Amino acid sequence: MSSEFNFWTKLPRPILALAPMAGVTDAAFRVLCKDFGADVIYTEFASTDALIHGNEATRRMIQYDPREQPVVCQVFGNDPEKFEKAAKILEQLGFSGIDINFGCPAYKVVTHGGGVALMREPNRCREIIDATIRAVKIPVSVKIRASIKSLSHTSPGDVNVHHQEMYTAVDLVRTIHDLPMAALMIHGRTFEKPFDGAPDVNAIADVKKAFKGIVIANGGIHSPEDAERMLVETGADGVGIARGAWGKPWIFRQIKSYLASKTYDHPTWDAIVETIIQHAELALSKKSQSGIIELRKHLAWYAKGIPNASALRQALVQVKTVEDITRILKQ
Ligand SMILES: Cc1cc2nc3c(=O)[nH]c(=O)nc-3n(C[C@H](O)[C@H](O)[C@H](O)COP(=O)(O)O)c2cc1C
Repeated sequence: MSSEFNFWTKLPRPILALAPMAGVTDAAFRVLCKDFGADVIYTEFASTDALIHGNEATRRMIQYDPREQPVVCQVFGNDPEKFEKAAKILEQLGFSGIDINFGCPAYKVVTHGGGVALMREPNRCREIIDATIRAVKIPVSVKIRASIKSLSHTSPGDVNVHHQEMYTAVDLVRTIHDLPMAALMIHGRTFEKPFDGAPDVNAIADVKKAFKGIVIANGGIHSPEDAERMLVETGADGVGIARGAWGKPWIFRQIKSYLASKTYDHPTWDAIVETIIQHAELALSKKSQSGIIELRKHLAWYAKGIPNASALRQALVQVKTVEDITRILKQ
């Protein structure tokens, strides 16, 4: 990596990142989060195979708007050579960085030896990171989880339970820390409890101590107060927001304000309407890779935040055009 291309070191601190979410972080939503103050944006994950084979749907999915920059494309796979090829393609497409997924717990990813399954193979992680870094000038980051056990399924009567080994984030970091990765995002939950419960802040703090690059703490941040607590408890250089931005992309602005002045505003109804319309315009514009299906999911999340509005919610999830949305919201 050439330091001239390493945008990570030029970002303001603490860094606020929009974490990758398959099926959610489409281009329209990413632009909006950027507008509201996200410092770095991750695409949803793309497979190395799909990138190498020029899969049309994947190319569309990772299409970005220049306003999103710096935008990082996240990649998953299992083969270092394929990462090398995919990385070159992404660099040519103009991404500011590449992120390697070592955290995804999805069945179809893990059963192919990708995502969090790789945390059980630290040497393969090394090979993948090394091959990716060597392939490109742009910075490479990784995303990991707090831990994974050696068996994917356990039950109290499982005879193998005593032989289970735990592969922790800090163990992995100790194996890879000498590689010139620019940043690392750690989701503080385990493979076995992938999305629920409080993140393990100690696991994140341990990683921060073991890795000299930039560490982004992720998991369970739904408010500015959560973000501040995460930063204080882990010593991380930034936070990654995922579900906390559903239906409230303004959370980035609120966090910035709170960290600077201990206060933040809740958007007025007019401001929310304006954001929803802007989101719809971005999603339904001719150039956009997102469309009405993606947009409806986001509309349902906006509507969730509005009290006593079940009729509005019903109407919003059936819209087809920006005009439909504007009419419903202004009624
Ligand atoms: C719908 C959904 C899709 C996700 N897709 C990805 C993905 O493509 N790559 C990835 O590294 N993490 C993915 N994640 C994990 C998030 O980036 C994040 O680590 C996790 O949701 C914890 O953060 P949160 O508690 O703020 O939601 C996804 C999460 C959700 C809910």
